Amino acid sequence: MKRLLLPFPAQAELARQVAGPLHAPVGELTWRRFPDGESLVSVDTAVADAEVAILASLRDPDSLAVALRLASDTARELGARRVGLIAPYLGYMRQDKRFAPGQAVSARSFARLLEQGFDWLVTADPHLHRIGTLAEIFSIPTVTVACAPLLGDWIAAHVPAPLVIGPDEESAQWAAAIAARAGAPWQVLRKVRRGDREVEVSIPDVAAAQGRTAVIVDDIISTGRTAIAATAHLRRLGLPVVCVAIHAVFAAGAYEDLLAAGAQRIVSTDAIAHPSNAIGIGALLAQATAELLDAGPPTPIRTDT
Ligand code: R5P
Repeated sequence: MKRLLLPFPAQAELARQVAGPLHAPVGELTWRRFPDGESLVSVDTAVADAEVAILASLRDPDSLAVALRLASDTARELGARRVGLIAPYLGYMRQDKRFAPGQAVSARSFARLLEQGFDWLVTADPHLHRIGTLAEIFSIPTVTVACAPLLGDWIAAHVPAPLVIGPDEESAQWAAAIAARAGAPWQVLRKVRRGDREVEVSIPDVAAAQGRTAVIVDDIISTGRTAIAATAHLRRLGLPVVCVAIHAVFAAGAYEDLLAAGAQRIVSTDAIAHPSNAIGIGALLAQATAELLDAGPPTPIRTDT
């Protein structure tokens, strides 16, 4: 069955990386806003009988949610066989429980919202903490690709004498995998978060860090407070610091603040388009998507179903 990749505008560059290995041409999808804030989406390439993969990274998911639904509905109405979503960054996954009475459990609600519009989902390293796999919250087939090996390879190729630093205890397994791939030692910081924007950290083994470049690895940099606290702490100990993240969310000012905190270099994957992008995940996304489509219902790289 013919495939078609329909990228949202911010993913135009990533679409070029995905299209080749997915063996799918890149179609035209336009999205503009009316003056009152409503979205107008237009599917400008023929989709009849095609397996359509919409590519949209879900940073700023509130502004995208309606447009995504308009795109998937339109593709179906125009004859697409199936419509899936490649969301290299899947938003809303951090609010995975009711942290205070009355709060929304956004991860579950957002999953329900997406599965109403799409037949399948491919994503990269979703922030899963209390939720074990995406299959717990999605009833459509989902596949996640793991970027840790790419981060490890980047570190090995670009950082002399690296010490991989996970910013908190939760990141231990992940930091260990990246460090193993990079052939580097690793530690995780002790982290206490005192609010949305207030984080304190400390390194457990200062002596073992001497003479090394600290490479802070994280799945997401959002407000940057975690990475900034880690960078400032490591800089006070005299270590050069490089930050490597999968999802360059970077809330307003976060990137600049992290540089100002002393990060020598900040690097991210292109899961979210950002000036720090240096690690391409297009081939991984394409491979996962191709395997999912080839299998019908999926049995791909790392399946959650
Ligand atoms: C935490 O569990 C995550 O791995 C990140 O460390 C965190 O989400 C980063 O957020 P921020 O940049 O807002 O500190």
